[in-house]
Amino acid sequence: MAAGESFYIATPIFYVNDVPHIGHAYTEVAADVLARWHRQAGDDTWLLTGTDEHGQKILRTAVANDTTPKAWADKLVADAWQPLLKTINISNDDFIRTTDERHEKAVLIFLQKLYDDGFIYSGEYEGYYCVGCEEYKQLDDLMETPDGDFAGQLVCKIHGRPVEILKEKNYFFRMSDFQQKLLDLYESQPDFIQPESVRNEIIQFVRGGLDDLSISRSSFDWGITIPWDHSHVLYVWFDALLNYITAIGYGTDTATFERRWPAVQLVGKDIARFHAVIWPAMLMAAGLPVPRKVFGHGWLLVGGEKMSKSKLTGIAPSEITDTFGADAFRYYFMRAISFGQDGSFSWEDLSARYQAELANGFGNLASRVIAMVTRYRGGAVPTPGPFTEADEAIFATARRVTAEADADVERLAIHDALASIWTLVDELNGYITIQEPWAIAKDPARAERLDTVLFTVVRGLGTLAVLLAPVIPEAAAKLWASIGGLGALSEQDIRAAFDWAGGPVVTPLASSLFPRIDQSESPAA
Ligand code: MSP
Repeated sequence: MAAGESFYIATPIFYVNDVPHIGHAYTEVAADVLARWHRQAGDDTWLLTGTDEHGQKILRTAVANDTTPKAWADKLVADAWQPLLKTINISNDDFIRTTDERHEKAVLIFLQKLYDDGFIYSGEYEGYYCVGCEEYKQLDDLMETPDGDFAGQLVCKIHGRPVEILKEKNYFFRMSDFQQKLLDLYESQPDFIQPESVRNEIIQFVRGGLDDLSISRSSFDWGITIPWDHSHVLYVWFDALLNYITAIGYGTDTATFERRWPAVQLVGKDIARFHAVIWPAMLMAAGLPVPRKVFGHGWLLVGGEKMSKSKLTGIAPSEITDTFGADAFRYYFMRAISFGQDGSFSWEDLSARYQAELANGFGNLASRVIAMVTRYRGGAVPTPGPFTEADEAIFATARRVTAEADADVERLAIHDALASIWTLVDELNGYITIQEPWAIAKDPARAERLDTVLFTVVRGLGTLAVLLAPVIPEAAAKLWASIGGLGALSEQDIRAAFDWAGGPVVTPLASSLFPRIDQSESPAA
């Protein structure tokens, strides 16, 4: 992408039936890293996240808790979902709730347009419904459980809970009209759905034929009322998907809408179908551009299964950040799991990577360099003498990883970007071991060489601060301040990370960037 372009990125909006776990935080962090990266590349960036508050699942939860769905949603948003963003340091530009008036108003405009244009009709439907997924199910999506609480019943493969049979008069969206158009879209825009595994699954699904979609419900009233028939509320997914455009001015602020849309959308692979089939079909019906990309990331697994609250395997993000900090949380999930694939979470792996990569690899590098400049040069960043091949190799690596990481982020391979950036961490550590500045410092005749070595490592650190700011913003900012980086770190051009501007002095770090953690403090212990 050329600098200055619009980069609009959205996470799914999260159900407020329960509090967040690390699977939800995972999507948030990935979207945030991409947004911060693009801001530093000078793009006109917008990061949207929010909450999905209508539908039967939320209604039932509220009733079970003796309250109204709106009061329940308000509480969960204030006590759990907004605080999550602080816990993991998300720099969202907006937070949409499907109960926001701005959302409800714009949904009505969209709905009326589709109705007026003949894309919606009234009909009857009978089928299996999973309230957990808020989705009608085909037999393929279900299984019979031989034992346990639901022995002999048909349960949803995702939630493992019995489905219900619903028979209702509904309004339908003519989704079947869009089968060929969707297949054409997948063909002509091959990176519309990523990764390849999700793309193939979606193409196969659409090739199998598309039914029209039931988009209203009349057996409960927690939703947006259908404007032409007040006895129905809008199907929660149809309502929720529209958040991506209602939040940026669809129907109310055309200039902003056109400036931002279309978006890059990150979703878990379990909800890729909604985003890569229903959503583009809805947009096509309204004559609007489809998303730039729908990326279906993998699941965080615990004990080999998708981590979830309903299966009691949910881990709260604060359980990790309380011990390791937000930066380590962000780094770990972005580094340890190939974005697009499933990944198993384990405390041992988190701890090991924290110690080896953050505390020893990166944090220690930063402390050593700053300590040496302080000790040998009173904190003044030296003017270098002639560069040797070894110094040039560091500059070349800084340049190479800057370009590589940017290309990796462009294809949403955040793990590859981090692996690439880490080659600079490792090379700098290797360079210090080989150059032995502490030995050079003993020889007054080699003062100029020491200047060059110290200069070279400070240059390397600055490049790391700029490149790592999107992933570990707090530690990178501390490092930046300590090495005398000029200007706000968040404004440093990430595509020129090898070529940053610094002031004349370094100031010692108040504390280690990633202090050693006493293993007995970790929840794993
Ligand atoms: N409300 C819908 C989305 C509507 S978007 C128009 C929804 N909400 S959710 O809260 O159930 O899930 C939100 C996101 O969290 C989904 O992308 C889902 O894939 C993701 N995850 C939930 N559990 C997860 C893991 N264990 N691992 C990774 N992501 C997980 O679906």
